[in-house]
Amino acid sequence: MTAMRSWFVRGTTALVAAGVALGALLSASSRTAKAQTSVATRSYADQLIQEGRQAFRYDTFGDESFWGGQLRLHQAIAGVANGGVGPGVSPEVAFAVGLKVDLDALPPSLVLLIKQNKVNLKDPATTIALLKLNAVVGVRGFFDPGSGRITSMGIQCALCHSTVDNALTTGIGHRLDGWPNRDLNVGAIVALAPNLSPFTTLLGASDAAVRAVLRSWGPGKFDAELILDGKAFRPDGKSAATLLPAAFGLAGVNLHTYTGWGGVPHWNAFVANLEMHGSGNFYDPRLADATKFPIAAANGFDDVRVNADRITPKLPALHFYQLSIPAPPPPAGSFDAAAAAQGKRLFNGPAGCARCHVPPIFTEPGWNMHTAAEIGIDDFQAKRSPDERYRTTPLKGLWTHQKGGFYHDGRFPTLRAVVDHYATVFGLTLSPTERAQLVEYLKSL
Ligand code: HEC
Ligand code: HEC
Repeated sequence: MTAMRSWFVRGTTALVAAGVALGALLSASSRTAKAQTSVATRSYADQLIQEGRQAFRYDTFGDESFWGGQLRLHQAIAGVANGGVGPGVSPEVAFAVGLKVDLDALPPSLVLLIKQNKVNLKDPATTIALLKLNAVVGVRGFFDPGSGRITSMGIQCALCHSTVDNALTTGIGHRLDGWPNRDLNVGAIVALAPNLSPFTTLLGASDAAVRAVLRSWGPGKFDAELILDGKAFRPDGKSAATLLPAAFGLAGVNLHTYTGWGGVPHWNAFVANLEMHGSGNFYDPRLADATKFPIAAANGFDDVRVNADRITPKLPALHFYQLSIPAPPPPAGSFDAAAAAQGKRLFNGPAGCARCHVPPIFTEPGWNMHTAAEIGIDDFQAKRSPDERYRTTPLKGLWTHQKGGFYHDGRFPTLRAVVDHYATVFGLTLSPTERAQLVEYLKSL
């Protein structure tokens, strides 16, 4: 008994001592672990931002096999004089369809020549030279190392979701990642392609019909659902294309795209595979619905498998980078601050805007979707998506994309028109002054 008790006592003491020692050890090691974690987390975050920016700006995900390889778009850009077809695309023409040039990719000698008006902007050879410098935002040329001739081209996320600050001249400046390029006429550019048979086959339409659809989009628009449902026009006969949205200020936002297709990684995989025609895997069984998405279902877009997946490895960094792009603050003097303060009061109070546009994310924390009836518009575009609803648009940085209008299809030409619409739909009694104050607040976000 005694022996056992004394063993027990000794044992307990030893255990307690060991426990204290272990505790000290644990807390020391958890301090080091914490320090290591924060260093590791920080360097992982930095690495993701770097890689994500690189992918967003420069990665084609192998889509040159489509834009160059199949559509032969590079030949139309080069023109006969440079080994292609047709008149070619001069910088003047490129600027007219909204393409932008990255000032930071130009050598100082060329910047000087541009300033002195000594660069021929009417010659497609200049466009080819810019492509060789990797200076055309969102477009990459591929060249034969021997002859220097352009052999293919691919597109990047930055084509639609970046613009430049026009620091040198209109169309040439520093990159603004995440800003929708509302000058860009995607349809007009694609319609230059010598071969549109991938689209005519997919859509079961003639070459002339496909070109007419592409030309109907206009600047700042693209129709991401066309290759799923084949609906090129709304019931009222207008183009079914939607505005290019912002890809900044997205942190904390649950569902993305105008109709809430999914999170950022879902849509990034969707776009890189199905729209850009990069080489990757993609899975979304909702696209197997042959009634809603006849073209997607017939072509197996719900389950795309390849051997060389160049997209999935990029998704973590691409996702992280987009979430890290802040919405740009409005320039000083671009709105009336006193009126905006009154507008903010209305937005959060009597006008009921913050019910859906919850600050500071300006969309709902949660399932940020609404029926067409709730916001008083038609349901054509909503019906082209899995949940048949419209997603509450996050409003930060609205001032950067006033060109092209508001709502998914730009149906409201001004912010005032948006406010007037809500006043009617929600039966708000807002004086003209109050409406103007709400507009000033929207411009201040
Ligand atoms: C040809 C133009 C084009 C290209 C290239 C493009 N996008 Fe988009 N993007 C759009 C359009 C149009 C929408 C809106 C689609 C919709 O609502 O149906 C969109 C929507 C988005 C959204 C949702 C934003 C939001 O919250 O509403 C994200 C994020 C996005 N794109 C990221 C990317 C990334 C990353 C790439 C490259 C892998 C890319 N896009 C390539 C045109 C483009
Ligand atoms: C019931 C939820 C709801 C309420 C309330 C609401 N909105 Fe919206 N808002 C939406 C949805 C959904 C959209 C997307 C519509 C579309 O793209 O077709 C939107 C779009 C917008 C847009 C267009 C953004 C863009 O980039 O095109 C603005 C501006 C806007 N709302 C401002 C307001 C203001 C101001 C109020 C208050 C008067 C308000 N909203 C009240 C849900 C709401």
